Amino acid sequence: MKKFVFFGGKGGVGKTTVSSAYGLKSANAGLKTLVVSTDPAHSTSDVFDQQFGDEPAPVDGHDNLWAMEIDPEQEVENHLIEIKRAMGDQVSPGMVNAIDRQIEMSHQTPGAHESALFDRFVDVMQNSEEYDRVVFDTSPTGGTLRLLSLPEFLEGWIERLLHKRKRSIDLYEKAAIGGREPRRMAEGDPIIARLQERKEMFEFAGEVLRTESAYFLVLNPDELSIRETGRAVEELTEYDLAVSGLVINKVTPEPDEDESGRGAKYLRDRCRTERERIEHIRDSFEEPVVAVIESRVEEVKGSLLADVAKDLDVTVEATPKSAG
Ligand SMILES: Nc1ncnc2c1ncn2[C@@H]1O[C@H](COP(=O)(O)OP(=O)(O)O)[C@@H](O)[C@H]1O
Ligand SMILES: [Mg+2]
Repeated sequence: MKKFVFFGGKGGVGKTTVSSAYGLKSANAGLKTLVVSTDPAHSTSDVFDQQFGDEPAPVDGHDNLWAMEIDPEQEVENHLIEIKRAMGDQVSPGMVNAIDRQIEMSHQTPGAHESALFDRFVDVMQNSEEYDRVVFDTSPTGGTLRLLSLPEFLEGWIERLLHKRKRSIDLYEKAAIGGREPRRMAEGDPIIARLQERKEMFEFAGEVLRTESAYFLVLNPDELSIRETGRAVEELTEYDLAVSGLVINKVTPEPDEDESGRGAKYLRDRCRTERERIEHIRDSFEEPVVAVIESRVEEVKGSLLADVAKDLDVTVEATPKSAG
């Protein structure tokens, strides 16, 4: 298994539950594991009954297991502050207000959330040397994946900018004004340096997402969820990110043979429909079904989590970096 493991899918299908269970399984196998959750509504904090924050913290009662929670709202806010700070260093105070307004507006656009979250994901991946495995309870979607084409875009931009700067510096030097000052401008240009840094960050992200990451999609045995999963597979494939498997969660348990009441009849009908859908999933997707997890009566936490982890037929051993 790759170092970075993503569990994607629609809200409520069980991403957080399954990633926590997989994280636990991985930790129990002796790998130092970090579970990263991104959903403020129901997250690892609920699963482990322990409040996690923006930085990794050890999970009580489990060896090798760490968790953190990224709050997308907070990330957008941090992003905003950071950009303003960087801009503030580079432009005249008079322009700062105008730029502030622009930046604030751009952060209200739908992509801002995803973009800030993606930056944080990359940040976590870049700073994860001490972990053998990092499990994310969301997979990148179309919006964030589009960011992967940013390096090429930035490359062109940086080249044009460099060219312009060089030309103006040449002119400057020809006008015989001291040589030191202009050269420093070209070498230490803060805007070019920042673009270069962004470009490298997205190059790193593309590389790691393609070569060191595995993607699983979590779905429920219902039509809507199956359709959504089809779309997610297409989206990921379009960006060369191969889906390793599907996790079918919240499958209705069969009643015992000798049960014959109204409830048992309902459950049998329900189970038959779900069985057909699961067959359909196995037939129509190329990706293997790696787990079929039944609905539990209670929220999946505590000892139930280890129980769900057993259902997961997903390997935990680390793949050596060079292997596929
Ligand atoms: N197999 C299951 N049996 C019972 N409850 C489940 C199961 N899987 C998930 N749940 C519950 O469903 C809700 C949504 O699950 P969650 O993992 O938070 O989904 P997501 O992260 O995809 O939004 C939670 O309350 C969780 O405890
Ligand atoms: Mg969740």
